[in-house]
Amino acid sequence: MEKKSSNKNLRKAGAAKNDEFYTQLPDIEKELGNYKNHLKDKVVFCNCDDPEESNFWNYFALNFEFLELRKLVATHFEKEKPSYKLEIVKDINKDGKINKLDTIKTPLKQNGDFRSPECIEILKEADVVVTNPPFSLFRQYVTQLIEYNKKFIIIGNQNAITYKEIFKLITENKIWLGKSIHSGDREFRVPAHYDVHSASHRIDDDGNQYVRVNGVRWFTNLDYKERHEDLILYRTYSGHENEYPKYDHYDAINVDKTKDIPIDYKGAIGVPITFLDKYSPDQFDILDGLNRYSILSGPTEETRGKFLAQVKGKPCYVRVVIKNKKI
Ligand SMILES: C[S@@+](CC[C@H](N)C(=O)[O-])C[C@H]1O[C@@H](n2cnc3c(N)ncnc32)[C@H](O)[C@@H]1O
Repeated sequence: MEKKSSNKNLRKAGAAKNDEFYTQLPDIEKELGNYKNHLKDKVVFCNCDDPEESNFWNYFALNFEFLELRKLVATHFEKEKPSYKLEIVKDINKDGKINKLDTIKTPLKQNGDFRSPECIEILKEADVVVTNPPFSLFRQYVTQLIEYNKKFIIIGNQNAITYKEIFKLITENKIWLGKSIHSGDREFRVPAHYDVHSASHRIDDDGNQYVRVNGVRWFTNLDYKERHEDLILYRTYSGHENEYPKYDHYDAINVDKTKDIPIDYKGAIGVPITFLDKYSPDQFDILDGLNRYSILSGPTEETRGKFLAQVKGKPCYVRVVIKNKKI
């Protein structure tokens, strides 16, 4: 029941292009704590962050010295009027600390849209971009980060994995999932005016409103040690061939649960997208993604009208096609 409501909330976010889901501080702390060495002496840019609301801004302002940042910049977005940017660079008020009290506010000529020329100039100067971008603009957002060759840690939904553009970047090892939130179900604060009717809706003692969203994931291109640890495999294909049928129209065996990947199969293996939570690029190559068609190549003459993620006439959910590179 709760799952259904949470998904509905996400769809609603997409459909209404409301996109006002504010990330909670403990979720930010849990993920960003893993990248201290990547952030040292870096310019961090939060480019979808109303500083009044954003815990990304709060996190970096609070931890500016601990993380040894060089500079923190956040831009605020206005739909139809000029906006502003906030920066923390040094101890302006001479109290011996660098924190929020050292914030400089500067008006922008444009509206703070992450695609605006003014924000792109700030982006060019930044080393690491960290935020929760509007989900409805996720593809464009990531495409821009890649175009400007930026390091990033952003939060989004696992559905984005199945977007052709994002999936391609995953196969090319240019983007991967972050370390935390692998169960994926997270609560976000939403503005008071946001009209939520769901079982997962909560209001706290201060009147703040929250909704739960399923399938939340961090997406990053900053490396961390655990993504190079092999997944322990214990099942075998040999002797259990009938438990690993091939897809009807695609040359790969189907595996419904990541833990059941056979240790001894050399060919292509289709696994659920949650495999990516455990994916080590040292252990597996990602060859393709399947839904109605190949996510990478789309429908071809051969496959047009056929459902690729399908076994014995029965469709499966989206599959990531992998190959064990250690055999
Ligand atoms: C999902 S909210 C997340 C806010 C914040 N990053 C957080 O997690 O607390 C997305 C934010 O992006 C802003 N936004 C929407 N469209 C934008 C755009 N085109 N450029 C920059 N920011 C945008 C919204 O105003 C909102 O503050």
